[in-house]
Amino acid sequence: MRERLLGKKAAVTGASSGIGRASALNLAREGADVALIARNRERLEETAEMVRKLGRKAVVIEADITDAEAVKKAVETSIDELGGLDIFHCNAGIYLRCPVKDLRMDQIRKLMEVDFFGCLNCVYAVLPYFLEKGSGHIVTTCSMDGKKGVPPDAAYVSAKFAMNGFFQVMRQELRGTGVNVSVIYPSRMDTPQIKHIDCPGITPKGNPDMVGKAVVKAVVKKKGEMMVPWFSCKLLVLAEAISYRFSEWLIRVNRLEGVENGKEGINEAK
Ligand SMILES: NC(=O)c1ccc[n+]([C@@H]2O[C@H](COP(=O)([O-])OP(=O)(O)OC[C@H]3O[C@@H](n4cnc5c(N)ncnc54)[C@H](OP(=O)(O)O)[C@@H]3O)[C@@H](O)[C@H]2O)c1
Repeated sequence: MRERLLGKKAAVTGASSGIGRASALNLAREGADVALIARNRERLEETAEMVRKLGRKAVVIEADITDAEAVKKAVETSIDELGGLDIFHCNAGIYLRCPVKDLRMDQIRKLMEVDFFGCLNCVYAVLPYFLEKGSGHIVTTCSMDGKKGVPPDAAYVSAKFAMNGFFQVMRQELRGTGVNVSVIYPSRMDTPQIKHIDCPGITPKGNPDMVGKAVVKAVVKKKGEMMVPWFSCKLLVLAEAISYRFSEWLIRVNRLEGVENGKEGINEAK
C-alpha cells in the first residue's frame, strides 16, 4: 500500500456497486477517507464496512443524483463529516440497451437525466467549494461509448457523449484554478449494470478494480483522460481517427455490442 492519498477526503457517487465501490476501495487503500453516495443504504453500508476494514473513515449518504438539492446536501454532509473534500468522483449511472427503432423519448430523457444531468448536479454542487479553496479534483466515469457510439446503445451513448463534451470544456476552462478534471473511459466491465450481456472476442469484460486503480492514477498523476483497458480502447480511437468505416468495421467483426445472455439486467429506463 503506497498511501499516495493519505489525509485526502473523497466522495464517490454510485458507491453501492460495481465501479463506484471499486473506486471507493482503491481511494481508501491509498489513504483517503470516503463519503459513499447512492440510493441503496444497505449496499452502501457494505461498501462502508469494506472501507473501514482498510482503516479509513467511511460516511454513508443516501441521495439520488437527479435531485440537485439532495446532491448539494450530500456534498455539505461529506465536507462536514470528513472535515473537507479533495476528490469528487461522479460515477453513478444507468445503462439502456435498445435499438433506435424501438427507443422511446422518455427512455432517452431518463438516460440524460441520470447519466448527464445527474452528473452535472454533482459538478455544480462541488465546484464552487473547490474553486473557493483553490484545489480539488473532479473525476467522472464516462465510457468508451462516449468516444465512439456502439449499437444498440444510442440513449446511453448520447448521455456519455454529452458528458465527454462538457468535461473536455470544463477541464480547459479550469486550467490554472487548482481544480483538476479527469475523465475515465472504461470499456465493458463486469458489474451488475451489464450482467445481461456477454462480451466475447477481443474485449472481454474487465474487473471494475481496473477502473478503481485508474481513478487513483488519474488523481495522483493529474491525468485528464484515462482509457481502461488502454490498448483496445486506444485502438478503437485510432481506427476512428483514420476512418469511421474502419472503426465501425472493427465494432462489427469483433461484436463489440456484446451478446444478450438472457440474464436479468438492471434496466431502470424500461
Ligand atoms: N459496467 C460497464 O461496462 C461500464 C462501462 C463504462 C462506463 N460505465 C459507467 O460506470 C458507472 C458505474 O456503473 P457500474 O458498471 O458500476 O454499474 P452498477 O454496478 O449498476 O452501479 C451503478 C451505480 O450507480 C448508482 N446509481 C444509479 N442511479 C442513481 C441515482 N439516480 N442516484 C444515485 N445513484 C445512482 C447505483 O446505486 P443505487 O442503485 O444504490 O442508487 C450504483 O451504485 C456508470 O456511470 C456507467 O455508465 C460502466
